[in-house]
Amino acid sequence: MASSASDNSYQPPEDLKTRLKESYDAVAPEYNAWTVAHATRRIEYLDKFLDVLLPSIDEGAAQSPVKILELGCGAGVPVMKKLLDLTRPPSSKKLHLIGNDLSTAQLNAARENLGSENVEWVEGDMMSLSFPDTSLDAVLAFYSIIHLPREEQYLMLDKITSWLKPGGLILANFSAEETGGEVLEQWFGHEKGWMFWSGWGSDKTLQQVRSKGLEIIVGEVMPDDVTAKFLWVIAKKA
Ligand SMILES: C[S@@+](CC[C@H](N)C(=O)[O-])C[C@H]1O[C@@H](n2cnc3c(N)ncnc32)[C@H](O)[C@@H]1O
Repeated sequence: MASSASDNSYQPPEDLKTRLKESYDAVAPEYNAWTVAHATRRIEYLDKFLDVLLPSIDEGAAQSPVKILELGCGAGVPVMKKLLDLTRPPSSKKLHLIGNDLSTAQLNAARENLGSENVEWVEGDMMSLSFPDTSLDAVLAFYSIIHLPREEQYLMLDKITSWLKPGGLILANFSAEETGGEVLEQWFGHEKGWMFWSGWGSDKTLQQVRSKGLEIIVGEVMPDDVTAKFLWVIAKKA
């Protein structure tokens, strides 16, 4: 995810979400082909998250399905697929999954890849989602909160925290560096591939997570499959 311009005072355009939707609608095939081959970190942190989540599911086996929301789920592979596989024998976990994405093309690909059994697909800006307080067991976000303007990233953390049940988990990655905006005009060399990322950097993001009353289980910066470094966070609501 290399970028050509980085600026701490960058102000994203007003039509940011429209532009991002159009870009992901256009680059989805190229992005998805690339992403499946570069999934090491996502699987590594998903496994760490499952190490925390699964024992609690087993303890509550007789209860209602465990509700997991993924923000910016893309085409559903590999993350949502791995969770859906857990709902089938031999694991047969009772999970109710919700996959959200801004891009119609991404969600169409997700439906095609994974169907709709045990999973609900919700199209739209993650900032517009609404769930009752304390209704979700976990929220996941891989390389998606980083597409929000920085101010919205804090608000998103607020929303996630209120949606989580006590003891609920968040797994997400964030920009390790502080930046108001990194912009690429043609991501994947695609003429419609205008792209934007931002972030508060590791220290401020971790501070924010703690300030929401979330207990950090994992909070570490790791290099990615390519060149970028991201802050990976697994945290638990008290
Ligand atoms: C880099 S891709 C990551 C996709 C998937 N999580 C993965 O790890 O392969 C970012 C995804 O977030 C989605 N996205 C970007 N901004 C979003 C927003 N405001 N709300 C919901 N989804 C968004 C994009 O459409 C895209 O599918």
